Amino acid sequence: MIAPQENASLRQYNSFGLDVNAEYFAAFSKLDDLRELLEWRKRKKLDLLLLGGGSNVLFKGDKSGLVLRNELMGINLVGEDARSYVLESGAGVVWHDLVMHCVKENMAGLENLSLIPGSVGASPMQNIGAYGVEIEQVFEYLDALHLESGEVHRFSHADCQFGYRESVFKRTLKGEYCIVKVAFRLQKEASLKTSYGAIQEELERLGGELNIAKVSQAVINIRQSKLPDPKLIGNAGSFFKNPVVSMEEYAQIKENHPNLVAYPSGEGMKLAAGWLIDQAGWKGHDRGAYGVHDKQALVLVNRGGATGEKLFALSADIIADIEQKFGVRLEREVNMID
Ligand code: FAD
Ligand code: EPU
Repeated sequence: MIAPQENASLRQYNSFGLDVNAEYFAAFSKLDDLRELLEWRKRKKLDLLLLGGGSNVLFKGDKSGLVLRNELMGINLVGEDARSYVLESGAGVVWHDLVMHCVKENMAGLENLSLIPGSVGASPMQNIGAYGVEIEQVFEYLDALHLESGEVHRFSHADCQFGYRESVFKRTLKGEYCIVKVAFRLQKEASLKTSYGAIQEELERLGGELNIAKVSQAVINIRQSKLPDPKLIGNAGSFFKNPVVSMEEYAQIKENHPNLVAYPSGEGMKLAAGWLIDQAGWKGHDRGAYGVHDKQALVLVNRGGATGEKLFALSADIIADIEQKFGVRLEREVNMID
């Protein structure tokens, strides 16, 4: 069996760059190794944390128990018809590498999701989304290993119960499965989605033929212009979700704040949390080692030497202030790890 490392640093395994340790740490690249590690952990009665790229977690401190990093690799074409391909990817594949593979092979559907950090295995957890696309639109099925029995179960789209930054794995099945493989249906004829945000403007600036590679490049350019690179400044992307409110609540807030940024969402409206936090004066907020990003108020940053507890306390201050100023309670998007 792979011998778990004791008291291992997780600094390079969390995009906030927090200096925390795991009581035990191991990486696995085979299902049998995962099963053996799970048996070992059961015998020792340890807590378990599954980790991909660590780009959507906030460690509040050192982590007791066993931290397992998923390194199951491989991208395989497993189906094809006149219009589409079905591509399976190991859960440990880096998400952006999968997107780049698809762009290179001219398989359409993931290009708007370029440059999202993290692993393929975590992508269904919160139904990752950006620039008008969520993975549920291209998702075919996934395989997940049941942690208790060691059996692999297949989940259809309906089984995953996807929502905005949500899936069944964050709710009723939380902590029960390790996602080991995800399959996507990608199109031979691209239907390009270019209406969201600044994409159109960036495409015009780039010029030339419009294709999935160009859309991917436009998304990469926009993201690089406003989101901090975790290699340079620790962060986990949007720290909060954009809150969805009823039409009545929306009308009330809009009355007092006519410039409110919001988009229709189901029966209600999705408010731009970044706008609320920005308006409340938090953008660029500086507490020395950490604070709020100066180009995107939805992103909390570790400028070096922050702790998870301090970042958590900052997020609590922001939640309280936004509730007081706008009557809206923000929900954290990042997963808190005790
Ligand atoms: P981790 O942080 O390792 O894990 C996240 C959660 O999933 C944890 O609870 C973990 O236990 C669980 N988990 C991980 N792997 C598995 C598995 N195989 N099986 C079961 N559970 C698992 N997200 C978006 O949706 N859209 C964006 O545009 C976006 N932009 C970002 C920009 C930046 C700069 C950063 C740092 C983050 C951004 N994110 C965005 C958030 C993040 O990239 C995604 O949530 C990503 O899917 C996390 O992948 P990960 O492998 O790093 O997950
Ligand atoms: N805004 C401000 N001030 C700010 C930030 C934003 O006024 O400091 C305004 C913008 O001007 C814009 C609106 O808010 O009018 C929305 O901003 P943006 O397009 O940057 O998107 P977002 O709602 O802040 C969401 C996702 C991102 C995703 C982008 C692009 C959530 C929680 N966040 O951000 O996802 O990349 O849209 O689609 O839904 C993530 O989940 O980690 C993430 C980065």
